[in-house]
Amino acid sequence: MKVLVTGGMGYIGSHTCIALHQAGYTPVIYDNLSNASVKVIDQLAQITGHHFDYIVADIGDKDALSAAINDHHIQAVFHFAALKAVGESTEQPIRYYQNNVAKTLTMIEVMSELNVKKLIFSSSATVYGDPQYLPIDEQHPISSTNPYGWSKVMVEQALNDLAASDGEWLTIALRYFNPVGADKSGLIGESPKGIPNNLMPFIAQTAVGRREHVSVFGDDYDTPDGTGVRDYIHISDLADGHVAAFSHHFNHEQAGTGSYAYNLGTGEGYSVLEMIKAFSVASGVDIPYQLAPRRSGDIACNYADASLAKQGFGWQAKRDINAMTADTWRWQTNYPNGLDE
Ligand code: NAD
Ligand code: WQD
Repeated sequence: MKVLVTGGMGYIGSHTCIALHQAGYTPVIYDNLSNASVKVIDQLAQITGHHFDYIVADIGDKDALSAAINDHHIQAVFHFAALKAVGESTEQPIRYYQNNVAKTLTMIEVMSELNVKKLIFSSSATVYGDPQYLPIDEQHPISSTNPYGWSKVMVEQALNDLAASDGEWLTIALRYFNPVGADKSGLIGESPKGIPNNLMPFIAQTAVGRREHVSVFGDDYDTPDGTGVRDYIHISDLADGHVAAFSHHFNHEQAGTGSYAYNLGTGEGYSVLEMIKAFSVASGVDIPYQLAPRRSGDIACNYADASLAKQGFGWQAKRDINAMTADTWRWQTNYPNGLDE
């Protein structure tokens, strides 16, 4: 079965292509390269022994998308393509709504016209806004604090309405907590352009000597050590979650129709200081850090109730914090400046 993977050269999409391939699916990658390197294709070939077909195009380009779906006899779309920098989204909201919402709707129109009505969507725990209770389950009220987050909320709403209006559609929104780590081969991983926004790539770049120290944003939160707590999930577990969710719904649940949302997290939280310590152990580098003021918009604590995915399709995260840090370190030392530099 051939599936289109939009954003398939990016961090999460590329790892999911490995999981899809291992499960017997044939991913066809569709990416405009706005935040990825085409070298990922060769890396994936080294890892899997398979050279994936790919198309360099934008999801808003109806002709290119139609051709990709038709030429490859695509049966489902795994939709990762999006802009994802929270801070940037507050400065350029319309660009975010255009890319993440408007173009997703265009893509869905094309899929409808071609009668491809199975969609797996990259959502985020950011749709829960400031948590009202922990752990966060899927019933938690939906909101957001920034345009990036609202773009995810809007697409989820559109998917619910779509599936309610047309009983042939299957839509699955997967709400990721904090994806980290890299494929165990060390051949692909996360390489943000410029200064990393997220903790794990910042720690990794500090350990490898690209940054002087990690700034710990706030040590006076209501958490055991005062620093922010998050539910970090290994990227390969996240990738497996996509395959498990799709396979389950496509093959069993209500003949592969309806609209669903699942958390993908571990259910366990780690603080900023615990992450720095774990990375020091994995890398053997004493990672310098400095306490800094809170980052605006941050919350104290966030972790998932991941039981719905376990009950629903038997998925749970298997890889621990040691694998998350060791695999990140392998990738970071192999490619300290990413694939392109
Ligand atoms: P990424 O930037 O590495 O991957 C996104 C890919 O989409 C890139 O390769 C980019 O070139 C491509 N792309 C962007 N806009 C496109 C367009 N209009 N047409 C075609 N291709 C386009 O990001 P990622 O971390 O792999 O994130 C994948 C998805 O998961 C995104 O939807 C993101 O919002 C979501 N998500 C990410 C995180 C995280 O922390 N990384 C957490 C929750 C949700
Ligand atoms: C984690 C913790 C920081 C950097 C973001 C998005 C979210 C989702 C995942 C896409 C916090 C602290 C960080 C640093 C630090 N993305 N920190 N020093 O904020 O939980 O989530 O990425 O959907 O939408 O908001 O992740 O990695 O930025 O921060 O102390 O240099 O690390 O304050 O406590 P976050 P993060």
